[in-house]
Amino acid sequence: MSDTLMNDKPVNDKQAVAIHAANFVKNGMLVGLGTGSTANYFIQELARRQHKENLKVATIASSMVSMIKAQSLGLNVIALTQVAEIDLYVDGADEITLDLTLLKGRGYDLVLEKLLAKAAKQFLVVADSSKLVGRIGTNFTIPIEVMPMAWKAAKHSLEQAGGVGDLRQNVAKDGLCVSSNGNLVLDMTFDKALSEAQLNQLINNTPGVVEHGIFIGLTSATLIAHEGIVRENWA
Ligand code: 5RP
Repeated sequence: MSDTLMNDKPVNDKQAVAIHAANFVKNGMLVGLGTGSTANYFIQELARRQHKENLKVATIASSMVSMIKAQSLGLNVIALTQVAEIDLYVDGADEITLDLTLLKGRGYDLVLEKLLAKAAKQFLVVADSSKLVGRIGTNFTIPIEVMPMAWKAAKHSLEQAGGVGDLRQNVAKDGLCVSSNGNLVLDMTFDKALSEAQLNQLINNTPGVVEHGIFIGLTSATLIAHEGIVRENWA
């Protein structure tokens, strides 16, 4: 068995909370896999339980990178086109408020992430305590996935509503970041006077926008780890 499947003492809070979340998975479940470092720990733990405890699950990945990771660890990954509903979705977030509103999408896989969150009977958000904020937009800009041909028009509409920002660049800063669906991503900030609900509505109503990173009313519970202790906050 490879080192990546071993379950020793968690190396950090992200792993601690991912292991906690994996205990919600039961035999026969269809499980949505998130994207990011915390979700990666969850994928590892699920694979470990499959290998060590003979847990029987099918999974759906929220990104190509998670699909490749899950398959490399021996998990059965099926296509979203095969199902309308999943049992459980476990994913991280960039920001989390007390009322369980989320900011997600630093990994620019917004569309699948929101689809899975909506399709899940239960959506568990796993994070360390650094992700807790008073309001969305505190530490990060709002990622907004736009159709390539519509990026200018969508940006203009959002600017007219007070938004400030630009297209996200790739890591090397020599090109644009392209989402898993071939779209571009605008990273924008807005007037703090707008509530998360208002922002959600504003961005949803902007033509050319495919999806954005504010998740309202989708979270079943947040599982937050701080110094090895996991606290659950249920909706
Ligand atoms: C990707 C996400 C991630 O869940 C979010 O960025 C958190 O990542 P990490 O677990 O690495 O801190 O929304 O689109």
